[in-house]
Amino acid sequence: MIRSDILASRRARWIATTIVAVIVVVVGIFVARGMRTLEPVSSFIADYPGVLEPLPGTPEGLPVWLAWQHYLNAFFLLLIVKTGWEVRTTQRPRAYWAPRTSRFTGTKISVTLWLHLALDVLWVLNGVVFVILIFATGHWARIVPTTWEVVPNALSVFLQYASLDWPTENGWIAYNALQVLSYFGVVFILAPLAIVTGLRMSPLWPSSAVRLSRVYPIEIARAVHYPTMLAFVAFVIVHVTLVATTGLLRNLNHMYASRDDVSWWGALVFAIGTAAMIAAWFLTGPTITRTLAARTGSVTRG
Ligand code: HEM
Ligand code: HEM
Repeated sequence: MIRSDILASRRARWIATTIVAVIVVVVGIFVARGMRTLEPVSSFIADYPGVLEPLPGTPEGLPVWLAWQHYLNAFFLLLIVKTGWEVRTTQRPRAYWAPRTSRFTGTKISVTLWLHLALDVLWVLNGVVFVILIFATGHWARIVPTTWEVVPNALSVFLQYASLDWPTENGWIAYNALQVLSYFGVVFILAPLAIVTGLRMSPLWPSSAVRLSRVYPIEIARAVHYPTMLAFVAFVIVHVTLVATTGLLRNLNHMYASRDDVSWWGALVFAIGTAAMIAAWFLTGPTITRTLAARTGSVTRG
């Protein structure tokens, strides 16, 4: 096929996927609305309204340390997805990085993968601090399910959202069950999965451990790492859409200004933070990446 045909068929596939997605969403809304008129469904929603009582002693509010952790997580993740995508789509890297220490002799990776790994280190450090702090402060109980009641409540929240008719909640005090499940999934399932699969493919993996490498083949890691990224991106799209549609200013105040009112402070901090993310996106181009990489090892042309 010539190039324009490939592009045309790719565009056709995108359009078809978009049309199918729109149909699924619209039909889903009608089905959810119809279901809610049925008596068993409405009494199910009345029995399981969606937000569980917090455990005694669970702190209220979103503290400043959490705002920083949440922001840095998104900052690093954006660049990790960008560099991961570049690693996947670049056939002939233009520059390579090799460590100066002898411990990793023979290691030679593209500078893009070097940046991916350097960002991973920062992202994991941020995540470790987060996990320590949530368990030290009792905040953990806001994002870890502690009863099976979370399941019917999450289903109920899903139906309420899908029918485009949900009560206003207050994430300052407690998240709804669907939030609890998805935040738990992102922090305690997706992030560890990205780490475990990423480490397997990285130069840090002890490839001399033959049995270990046989038990956990690199192909498995490759097959899981990429869909993990897709799951992260899907979560963020839904997450940010819901943040925007369930009281944007108040939500931004919660997470970016650690306050529970409807002023513009959170939006201001969010705007500055997002500008820094956009700047970092452009600053991590090939030239600066190569300069940074050269500080920690030797960089050669591909
Ligand atoms: C830049 C876009 C983002 C915005 C505007 C945003 C906004 C928010 C807001 C407002 C809350 C609190 C919700 C409430 O008060 O009801 C929240 C919580 C949360 N967000 Fe985000 N978020 C963003 C990106 C992300 C990313 C990239 C992740 C992870 C992949 C993430 C994971 C979480 C988690 C785990 C919580 C619960 C935190 C806790 O209480 O421990 N967010 N987010
Ligand atoms: C500690 C965490 C992580 C480590 C150690 C790591 C490591 C790696 C390594 C070594 C590769 C290169 C694979 C190859 O050469 O084929 C890679 C690729 C990639 N990484 Fe990561 N990674 C981590 C986290 C993440 C996260 C959180 C995301 C996205 C949310 C991500 C997205 C990607 C993508 C999209 C690729 C390209 C995959 C492909 O070619 O199919 N990584 N990562």
